[in-house]
Amino acid sequence: MLKKRLKAEQAQSNVCADIAGFDFNDYDAHDIDEVRHYWLTYGVLRFKNTRITDADQVAFSRNFGEFVIHPKQLQEGGHPTHPEILVISNATQDGKPTGAMGNSEATWHTDTWFYERPPAGAILRAVKIPPSGGDTYFLSTYMAYETLPAALRKLVDGRQIFFQNVYDKTGKLRLGKTEPTSKDFREWSGMVHPLVRTHGETGRKALYLGGTADKAWIVGMPLDESEALLAELWDHTTNEQEVFVQQWEEGDIMMWDNRCTMHRRDSFDPASIRIMHRTTTSGERPI
Ligand code: SIN
Repeated sequence: MLKKRLKAEQAQSNVCADIAGFDFNDYDAHDIDEVRHYWLTYGVLRFKNTRITDADQVAFSRNFGEFVIHPKQLQEGGHPTHPEILVISNATQDGKPTGAMGNSEATWHTDTWFYERPPAGAILRAVKIPPSGGDTYFLSTYMAYETLPAALRKLVDGRQIFFQNVYDKTGKLRLGKTEPTSKDFREWSGMVHPLVRTHGETGRKALYLGGTADKAWIVGMPLDESEALLAELWDHTTNEQEVFVQQWEEGDIMMWDNRCTMHRRDSFDPASIRIMHRTTTSGERPI
C-alpha cells in the first residue's frame, strides 16, 4: 500500500484532481509512484502555479515512459533545444510560426489516435497565457463507456474502428502521406483499433472514438449505419458527460491519460499570444 505524501483533491469534477505538495525540483520514486497512482485513478491531474523550466518538465515526464515525437514536432512545433517538447503556440518569428496549432479551436480528440500505439500520457505546461480564451476541456471516456445505454453498449462491444490517417482535421495531408486515389476513405491508409479499449494498467474499458470531424468507420458495418452510430456515440460522449474546464494560469500543468480521456480547447484572440509546452509519453497498442 502506497504511503501518501501528496494531496490529491478533486477539482470541480470527477475527471480531474489537483495535486498539492509535489516539488518538481525535489522528488523521489515514491512521489512518482503516487503521481502515477492519482493519474490512473482520475485520468487528469492538475499541478497549479509551478515555476519549472523546460528541462524540469522533460526530466519529470521521463518518469512516465519513452517520449513520443508528435509529427508537428518535426514541423513548426519543434522546440529549439529540447526535441522532447512540442510547442503549441500562435507566436511567430520573422513571419513564421514558432509553434503548432495557431490560435484556432481544437475539437474533441484523444492524441494521435491514428497511430498504431497512441501515446499514454501528455503533460502540458502553460508558458504564456492570453487574457481570455484558450481554455482546455477534459472528459472521461471510461465514463462515456460506462454510461452508455445497454442497447448502445451491445452495438459497440467487440467492434473495431477504422481511422484514416491521410489528412489531419483541417484537411491538410499528414506528414509523409500522399493524396489517395480512391474516393472511398475506407480504402485509404489508416489504422484499425478497438472501439472499446481496455486500459493496459487499470483494466477498465473506455470508448475510443479518435477525433471529431475525422473520417472513421466501424469495420464491417454499412457506412450509413456506421455514421449514424458514430454520431450517436459522439453526442453521448461530448454532450452528456461531465467536463472539466481548465482556465489556465501561467505555470499550470495538466497531465492526462490519453487512454481514457479526451480533450479540446477554445480558440483565442489572434492578437494575443499563447505558448504551451507539451511532452508526450508512449502507450500500448489499444486492446
Ligand atoms: C492539445 O490538444 O494537446 C492542445 C491543448 C491546448 O492547447 O490547450
